[in-house]
Amino acid sequence: MKYDQAKTPLIEAIERHHEMDPISFHVPGHKNGLFIDEKDKQFFYKSDLTELSGLDDLHDPHEAIREAELLLSDLYGSRKSYFLVNGSTAGNIAAILASCSPGDTVLVQRNCHKSVLNGMKLARAVPVIIETEWDEEGKVPTGVTTESIRETLKAFPDAKACVLTYPTYYGMTYDVEAVITELHHHGVICIIDEAHGPHFLLGEPFPASALALGADIVIQSAHKMLPAMTMGSYLHIGTRRVNERKITEYLSILQSSSPSYPIMASLDYARSYVGTMTERDITKNLAEIDGFVQALTSIHDGLSVKRTNDPLKLLLTMKGKTGYELQQQLEKQGIFCELADPYYVLLILPLMKEHISFPYKEAAERIYEALKDEEVPEQAGNGDKIERKNLLHYTALALTHAEMEDREEKWIPLTEAEGEISARMITPYPPGIPLLIPGERISGDTIVRLKQYLKNNANIQGDHRLDENLVCVYR
Ligand SMILES: Cc1ncc(COP(=O)(O)O)c(C=O)c1O
Repeated sequence: MKYDQAKTPLIEAIERHHEMDPISFHVPGHKNGLFIDEKDKQFFYKSDLTELSGLDDLHDPHEAIREAELLLSDLYGSRKSYFLVNGSTAGNIAAILASCSPGDTVLVQRNCHKSVLNGMKLARAVPVIIETEWDEEGKVPTGVTTESIRETLKAFPDAKACVLTYPTYYGMTYDVEAVITELHHHGVICIIDEAHGPHFLLGEPFPASALALGADIVIQSAHKMLPAMTMGSYLHIGTRRVNERKITEYLSILQSSSPSYPIMASLDYARSYVGTMTERDITKNLAEIDGFVQALTSIHDGLSVKRTNDPLKLLLTMKGKTGYELQQQLEKQGIFCELADPYYVLLILPLMKEHISFPYKEAAERIYEALKDEEVPEQAGNGDKIERKNLLHYTALALTHAEMEDREEKWIPLTEAEGEISARMITPYPPGIPLLIPGERISGDTIVRLKQYLKNNANIQGDHRLDENLVCVYR
């Protein structure tokens, strides 16, 4: 053997992380197990079981799992709800496969998760990309407009389905009800990737869930915003437009035949947790968040806090620093954030009940420590501006999946790529929004933005050679 088999590098990395006494402002929503008491923690180990008598079967539920899914459906007001053990990734793909046939046009939002595009590829659907709007400063992606949907449907009246992301990773929402109405007016099935919104059923001040607004299929990552374990998600069917049999079939194809009972148990727990939240719990959350925001705004003249449409998501920005630099500085004090981009770091706040306390005060103190010696530069921008000229409502791909499979590829310098067709998905991560999709013609605007991400040392996912300034295009 070449290596020392006694080594357990992942376990050691996890232990090193915990030695920093980290404060979690990231997913999973249980915040390093804070919401789970000792008795329940032990239970999660004991729950690592299999399909024994009395424990039911996720792929053919009749007993406990069926009852747990019925409770879920009851809480969210769906026609039918499913536990997912392979994340919203599996839910998005199953929803797409069940809603269209090869060759069907499917509309997708530009700032969709990569699982949506992967689902299109597997379904052999023809994606039409709906361009994303940005907030007024042009720094945070928001959503799509009814006008964009209307214009896209004029050009593609036969579209079969539309997959939208609501809310965005950054906690931004938009008038999804109007968009759903427009889609239904044209007979289009509306799939909502609500990965970041399983808590929206709580009502104001949280935005409304798309499920309550008429969406046909809604997929939620319980592990992101509720205290469920990583990969635990929900899929809800909202209307009769959906072929329930196909959803069930694709979920059983895409998910493990040995679904994790600890994940399923945590989904049961998360449903009960959110389903029993009281007005007092919500009031406590909001008061603590207000206190934290107030503490943050008085930490440093250069630090600003931006609230989003989701009270549990905050964006921090520091004058003269990129979000990546701010993130590094916070991590030195054990403050771990969900993501950084050229401008912001994103904090995901906990959804707490009255009896739970979160170390907000200590977090504010540590953030103060991290930034106290920082000078505010006189003329301070926050990273270079990422140019966005969003004049288009939609972008159709230049090649179909079948055409792409037959084409040869070549690597060319990024500077010469304008007008060529990308052969790779290029996704700065986070936030995981594809800048380029295979089959998409490369615009000058995209090259400028890609260079910006590279300059900021953003992590670019995918099989690329951007470190050599090369991109892969079709011949
Ligand atoms: C908008 C969105 N959809 C889907 C996913 C995939 O979710 P999961 O991690 O539950 O598979 C993510 C993950 O970050 C996401 O941000």
